Amino acid sequence: MTWLITGGAGYIGAHVVRTMLEAGERVVVLDDLTAGVPARLKGSQPQPALVQGTVSDRRLLDRVLEEHQVTGVLHLAARKQVGESVERPLHYYRENVHGLTVLLEAVVEAGVRRFVFSSSAAVYGTPDVDLVTEETPCLPMNPYGETKLTGEWLVRATGRAAGMATACLRYFNVAGAARPELADTGVFNIVPMFFDALTRGEAPLIFGDDYPTPDGTCVRDYIHVQDLAEAHLAAARRLETDAGGTRATEPAGEAPGRDLTVNIGTGKGVSVREMADLVADITGKREPAARVAPRRAGDPARVVASAELAAKELGWTARHSMRDMLTSAWEGWCLHHPEAR
Ligand SMILES: NC(=O)c1ccc[n+]([C@@H]2O[C@H](COP(=O)([O-])OP(=O)(O)OC[C@H]3O[C@@H](n4cnc5c(N)ncnc54)[C@H](O)[C@@H]3O)[C@@H](O)[C@H]2O)c1
Repeated sequence: MTWLITGGAGYIGAHVVRTMLEAGERVVVLDDLTAGVPARLKGSQPQPALVQGTVSDRRLLDRVLEEHQVTGVLHLAARKQVGESVERPLHYYRENVHGLTVLLEAVVEAGVRRFVFSSSAAVYGTPDVDLVTEETPCLPMNPYGETKLTGEWLVRATGRAAGMATACLRYFNVAGAARPELADTGVFNIVPMFFDALTRGEAPLIFGDDYPTPDGTCVRDYIHVQDLAEAHLAAARRLETDAGGTRATEPAGEAPGRDLTVNIGTGKGVSVREMADLVADITGKREPAARVAPRRAGDPARVVASAELAAKELGWTARHSMRDMLTSAWEGWCLHHPEAR
């Protein structure tokens, strides 16, 4: 088996690459390096091949699939900033949806029979349920979430038509790092936003404390990036069984074209207030204390995954605690922002 990992030089992708290699899988990375950092792949053993290019480049894809005899794809490459997707919807549709279409065409033609797609809890929008199951209606609230839902449709339909086993993994809120060098360097999510504020000597902002939750602040499900990487390995192994022979010319397994769509979360909610207290504890920065600002439009009170289906279908559950996540994220933050300590 050789797995093509798109976006493998990104934050999550680099963790997935490392985990797959450590599990003995062969890997080739395709990344256009718009957000990816090649140095993230340096510590991996063995060193994976890195091809610089976009998933929209059909000729490049044909060459990589053939040269590396790719038998499965983990597709993580995408644009991921919600705010930017509102400002530049066409860019997001071109990168995340058109790019995926080109990739799927190439993959089907090459006879690849396994495809794992990075989806997101953003497909659910603002679900009004205690635990979000895979049956909860998908009503994305922004172009980013729309591109992820459209991507799922494309992946499932293509898998069924082409006899390809597929898995769409709906990640909840990802945080932490397996090693400081692999940390997320963007400031788009709550954890780096808290660290950023504290580094500048400012109070982290809590948007709204009058939600119908135990302490009035929003509740989310946070998943350690290493647990998420292990979910990819579990999905890859599952698809190896589902798809049978390695290429389309070989006999199929019992369930060719089978599709899975699963939440990747912990099933446990953490409030923004709890997060702020834990961040103060881990960083030792209790002043200035977190400050409450008005609610942001479109923030649901509570989004927590039901993690049951992933346990049943993938034999996978998250192992790391919120404290592990924040401690490792802080180590990574301090590596890139030495002034933070
Ligand atoms: N980080 C999160 O909290 C989160 C949550 C849910 C889903 N996701 C999804 O997980 C995936 C990885 O996210 P991440 O946080 O590692 O982001 P990231 O920006 O760190 O990684 C994305 C990688 O893809 C590459 N890339 C982007 N467009 C490309 C293209 N057209 N061709 C080739 N490479 C391209 C970038 O250079 C980057 O290395 C994305 O699909 C994202 O939508 C992330």
